[in-house]
Amino acid sequence: MCGIIGYTGKDQALQIVMRGLAALEYRGYDSCGLSAFSSDGDEITVIKKAGRLKVLSEALSTVQLNTRCAIGHTRWATHGAVTEENAHPHRVGKTVIVHNGIIENYKQIESELQCSFQGSTDTERACALIDRYYEQTHDGKQAIINACSQIEGSYAFLIMFEDEKDTIYATSRACPLIVGHGENGSCAISDISACRLDTYCRLNDGESARLTPDGISVYASDGHELKGRLLPTDVKTELPSKNGYPHFMLKEINEIPTVLRKTVDANTKDGLPFFKSIPDSVLKDMKRLTVIGCGTAYHAGLCAVHTARELSGIDGAAYIASEYRYSRPTVKKGDVVVFISQSGETADTLACIRMCRSLGAYTLGIINVPYSTASFECDGVIYTHAGFEIAVASTKAYVCQLAALYLLIFKASLLQNALSEKKVSEYTKILKNDVPENAYIDEEKRKTVYNIAKKHKDSENMFYIGRGIDSILCSEASLKLKEVSYIHSEAYPAGELKHGAISLITPDVSVFVIATDKKLIGKTENNMQEVSSRGGRLILLGDSEMKSCDIIPCNSLQGIFSPFAASPLFQLYAYYTALLRGCDPDMPRNLAKSVTVE
Ligand code: M6R
Repeated sequence: MCGIIGYTGKDQALQIVMRGLAALEYRGYDSCGLSAFSSDGDEITVIKKAGRLKVLSEALSTVQLNTRCAIGHTRWATHGAVTEENAHPHRVGKTVIVHNGIIENYKQIESELQCSFQGSTDTERACALIDRYYEQTHDGKQAIINACSQIEGSYAFLIMFEDEKDTIYATSRACPLIVGHGENGSCAISDISACRLDTYCRLNDGESARLTPDGISVYASDGHELKGRLLPTDVKTELPSKNGYPHFMLKEINEIPTVLRKTVDANTKDGLPFFKSIPDSVLKDMKRLTVIGCGTAYHAGLCAVHTARELSGIDGAAYIASEYRYSRPTVKKGDVVVFISQSGETADTLACIRMCRSLGAYTLGIINVPYSTASFECDGVIYTHAGFEIAVASTKAYVCQLAALYLLIFKASLLQNALSEKKVSEYTKILKNDVPENAYIDEEKRKTVYNIAKKHKDSENMFYIGRGIDSILCSEASLKLKEVSYIHSEAYPAGELKHGAISLITPDVSVFVIATDKKLIGKTENNMQEVSSRGGRLILLGDSEMKSCDIIPCNSLQGIFSPFAASPLFQLYAYYTALLRGCDPDMPRNLAKSVTVE
């Protein structure tokens, strides 16, 4: 969940590392720091702070640091509180380190080393272990190999040794780490978009690399050199910009119509779904739709399972990756399993991909970030084309995941003769034209959402209720609200409320009803009456005759397509609520954009 970057070369390292950290800050923003060789290469300076990057920038403006070699870190705390001592880089003896991941046996390492520590992080213990081996071997590469053979857990490390001028070592296990040439030097980064690279290499588990201003050597876990690993890359690295918007979250909600079009265009041909990397036989033989993901991606999976069943009778199930990986697997050789991930780096999802592959399943990724770990590890990939999603709360990526999943369902239904070509072409056309048009939020709707959010912003408890596909949307709408506004909220199928949770309805509680499904609106209205009778304050996303509620009109898309019109509206509701409560919608507390630890 942390972001790491290292640079050694001809250019000003500080600028490159700070720019990279700005691009990586979405991965964690509790604290940050960097270390740099002095211009004569004689010593390493470490500067670190609790807080966001701007605190580090301020600290840097007060020191003279002319350097061509630096490593940096932006942290999402796992072990140890958010303090300056626990911020990275850590220094023990001649060794300085930044780390993304979790060292599981850090307590054992600590007791074996018998030395004192400044902070309480697992990383500082790993640093001490590497330093102990460095004292013995005076060889950075060997010290790292020895230490890593003892370390349990996951890591991407960047390491400097005070005696090895302008040199950075990189090594990883179960955490993304890319090394490459660019910016007139050698770079190591957690995410390919954080640096301008001409060539790159993803380090596989156990591999390491030595970066100097003149080049990069990549090594296998036993230390022998691996030649020819660096490949050309054409990834565009634009520093994400808000383009005049006050927040990325708002910008990203507004981009939904555009990115939906891109996602549909990239995955269709001649008006029908088309996936370059997935053989037709895979979808023809897909008996069930099994979907795995975390958080919002899991919610997209729930929606897809519902749609596949409603539309063409394809049965299936969606699973939460962190649960699935420790459950008794039912997947067999030849099954198709769909993995959804915006980042392509979510640790639990990656573990499930590996597990299902080892059981002989075909792993199909629905992924937003090219060059991500999942994009390499899945047998076939359908890319969503949401572009960079910077706000921690997923908005545009979620609707693009839905679009990609729908295309997958249409294609599978066609190949399995569950839908005719005419029907599939009709549905694909709706996805291409009507869906983006109706995902657009005009000024009138924006104002309505804002005013309703203002009226309900002080409710400390909320329920989201709905039926059918709306009930599934409620889970995502509720997650969105709680993650950015810190309001406690729960999602319930509307009819289930009276089986227990209705005891919590009081005049202080707001109940957000999603009711886009015309067939079920009468039933949902009964549940709204039950809430109203107990004093609950109702908000309705949909269309109803009921007068005693605040209405966000949403009747443009029906049936399986309603999520595309409803989602931007409940996302905007969460955004405004966060704003009105003084919360930062882009970087909510305790969260990080990509969850690369278990
Ligand atoms: O990158 P992924 O799609 O694999 O991330 C999965 C979840 O961590 C993510 O969707 C999370 O729930 C969102 N921040 C919620 O808005």
